[in-house]
Amino acid sequence: MNAIAGRSFFLGIDIGTSGTKAVLIDAEGRLHARAVAEHALSAPRPLWSEQDPEDWWNAVKQAVRDVIQDAGIRNAQIAGIGLTGQMHGLVVLDARGGVLRPCILWNDQRASAECAALTAHIGAERFLAITGKPVLPGFTLPKLEWMRAQEPELFARIAHVLLPKDYIRYRLSGTFFSDVSDASGTSLLDVGARAWSRELLDALDIPSSWMPEVEESPVVTSFVSSAAASETGLAAGTPIVGGAGDQAAEAVGSGVLAGDAVSVTIGTSGVVFAGSSTYASDPGGRVHAYCHAAPGLWHIMGVMLSAGGSLRWYRDTLGLPEKELARDHGIDAYELITEHASRAAAGCEGLLFLPYLTGERTPHPDPWARGAFVGITVRHGREHFARAVMEGVSFGLRDALELVRGLGLPVREVRLSGGGSRSDVWRQMLADVFRADVLTVNITEGAAFGAALLAAVGAGAWASVREAVDAVVTVTGSTSPGDAAAVYDECYPRYRALYGALKDEFRAMHEALPRTREA
Ligand code: XUL
Repeated sequence: MNAIAGRSFFLGIDIGTSGTKAVLIDAEGRLHARAVAEHALSAPRPLWSEQDPEDWWNAVKQAVRDVIQDAGIRNAQIAGIGLTGQMHGLVVLDARGGVLRPCILWNDQRASAECAALTAHIGAERFLAITGKPVLPGFTLPKLEWMRAQEPELFARIAHVLLPKDYIRYRLSGTFFSDVSDASGTSLLDVGARAWSRELLDALDIPSSWMPEVEESPVVTSFVSSAAASETGLAAGTPIVGGAGDQAAEAVGSGVLAGDAVSVTIGTSGVVFAGSSTYASDPGGRVHAYCHAAPGLWHIMGVMLSAGGSLRWYRDTLGLPEKELARDHGIDAYELITEHASRAAAGCEGLLFLPYLTGERTPHPDPWARGAFVGITVRHGREHFARAVMEGVSFGLRDALELVRGLGLPVREVRLSGGGSRSDVWRQMLADVFRADVLTVNITEGAAFGAALLAAVGAGAWASVREAVDAVVTVTGSTSPGDAAAVYDECYPRYRALYGALKDEFRAMHEALPRTREA
């Protein structure tokens, strides 16, 4: 990529679960460079999921240097930085800014007892009214309560509570800020008012001084410090905007604001996201309300915890032969697996898969839910198992889509992003299962790109987020429902019935776990 003297560029940084991505775009929204640096995930106990914030910082330093070098630009040409990342993680700092313990991540399920206690204390209806969702183990607040109960010495030293991307803002600038979309995932934000809930902070005895200031996503909050400049290769003084949680940033990158398409993202998690111009929560609390990254808008979101994660599990277990074959031929294992899956007929001759490999959030908020293959006969081979995994994930996403439809939000078209959008087998399957057109867009760098667009809006390259997405995001392909839709209409009710039939067994399996391990 060439140096373009005198031009302005915008940097998007996404602190993901498996790695950190940086992208550089110009003031017309053209991509000039991308870089990814991976980080490790640790599961020190069953249901736990943690990361070391220092690993994110090291990944940021590498990815930022790589994009600047790759684009061949001077750091002073970067006119703004947008941060995004995995939501809900708990980062706690002491008064000197030191990290007190590893971050407890979005897919950690340890805090179920704290959720029950919080719900009893505050009331389920109050949580739903204020935060737009029930309090669930994946969200930030119950993790903080878990620390209060289990790590009282560390808890006593807390001076700052931050989300993952906001820890990176702290390292870049020395300031403590968050944005309204990411803060919506803490269970402490008054989502309708777009501000911390004084009622919840007071009732739970959480000092408001621990919480970062919240801003709208395109607003400049901070500037790169000279210390961070020498560590990252960025120019001191570069502005940093509020940024967004990864799902809101991804929706910006897909051009989904309000009143148009619904966005579906298949990454490790699977997300159904619908924008809205008013704040309203689902009375059943199964899909959740958040502030959008566009000021004045909100969104409803349903999150499956293992969507692409289920196919990754398949690749690394039953799909090992394809994985090895793919390695020998230098091709992508997922391509081989989905091609193999396409040889089985829709509906897999009655084989069904439940995708709850790491518990579930939507539509079943259940940390103990498990995966299952049900309906195996001697006729089933590995191609059926591969297809059943993809169909189970698609049915799980339909669960969330039906809840969005039930709230009266129109689902005329679905914009698909994330790793799953690259597979034509999966695109067709989703169009059939959803009975909706599935569209792809020109932006393939997802949340990182959305964050860079927010930085560009903050710097005045566009007057609003709406103007930016209208100028930059275009539809590149569309897949319509086909003959298999009728088959899936028959399978879906059977899939729906399975969780109800098995959930007590899942709970019993979890309770038997320590005894099973001792035996
Ligand atoms: C969103 C969620 C995940 C994480 C990880 O609510 O939990 O999508 O943000 O990316």
